[in-house]
Amino acid sequence: MPLLDISDLCVRIPTPEGEVHAVRAVSLRIERGEIHGVIGESGCGKTMTGMATLGLAPKGARIEAARFHFDGADLREQAKALRGKRIGMIAQDPAAALNPVLSIARQMDDVIRAHRTLPREARRREAADLLAATGLPDPGRVLKSYPHQLSGGMQQRVVIAQALATGADFLIADEPTTALDVSVGAQVLALLRKLVAERGLTVLMITHDMDVIAEACDRATVLYAGRSVETGPVEAVLQKPGHPYTRALLAALPDAAPHGARLAAIEGSIPPPRTRIAGCAFAPRCPKAMPVCAAEPPPERARDRHTWLCHLPEDAA
Ligand SMILES: Nc1ncnc2c1ncn2[C@@H]1O[C@H](COP(=O)(O)OP(=O)(O)O)[C@@H](O)[C@H]1O
Ligand code: SF4
Ligand SMILES: [Mg+2]
Repeated sequence: MPLLDISDLCVRIPTPEGEVHAVRAVSLRIERGEIHGVIGESGCGKTMTGMATLGLAPKGARIEAARFHFDGADLREQAKALRGKRIGMIAQDPAAALNPVLSIARQMDDVIRAHRTLPREARRREAADLLAATGLPDPGRVLKSYPHQLSGGMQQRVVIAQALATGADFLIADEPTTALDVSVGAQVLALLRKLVAERGLTVLMITHDMDVIAEACDRATVLYAGRSVETGPVEAVLQKPGHPYTRALLAALPDAAPHGARLAAIEGSIPPPRTRIAGCAFAPRCPKAMPVCAAEPPPERARDRHTWLCHLPEDAA
């Protein structure tokens, strides 16, 4: 049984201008112990999928799904209870995730105290151990510091240590390296891989960067306009992509593109989230589009555990 099991998730958000269809039909199956990348252009619904899983969808949002389960629990009812216990979050901007006026010692202690009953000295040791586990060289000094005294990479390690302090075994990392320098970002990805291996964690890694998928992930799901359009082992998705959108994402990456660059332009843009879409949402931009594409929802194609949605037959991919 997958740890996270989402089928046809749909998130609608009320706004004064009408309902926004932030997530239309996302399916996501994440097995224990894997790093599962979710990739797509900005606005495809990556963050909202993560937020709904954390029970943090905006007020008034309507969440529907055929399945929305974490370890057997229905997230429609239990997401809030699981957040900060089993499910942790690593945000894009560590500086914003930390409180600027409190020392790291105080912020680590607040998290540890909320989850464990330990005497003060033991909590301090635990905080130092967790900081050391994230590769911070001098935990004693880090504990005495305030966020602004740490580099972005160190701050992100503190945020990861806080997530570990909750005891969470499933982490949702939303663009965790986007705010960091390339080499620092690579170190944070290496740290996440190490923690997954050593502590049996499972990670949902949200990114717009194919390099992050290639470097850090075991499996990947591609989102387009609020739908999951392709999913499979990373090697299959990167080397034999089935969906023309995934192919366009990969083709748009010039070899010389600086690591961490925004997905280079694919002509056109994603449909706005208020549009009704009858067939394949990618049809207006797809070089292979056929008349049926705009009219009818594409069927699922499969090669082993690699699946995608497209009207083109498997062998055309
Ligand atoms: N609070 C909100 N209110 C209205 N629309 C939203 C809100 N949050 C996100 N959206 C819309 O939902 C869509 C998906 O957003 P998001 O999940 O943030 O995309 P991504 O993380 O892939 O860039 C976008 O069109 C975005 O404008
Ligand atoms: S269904 Fe048609 S438009 Fe959509 S990706 Fe496949 S070929 Fe392109
Ligand atoms: Mg986002």
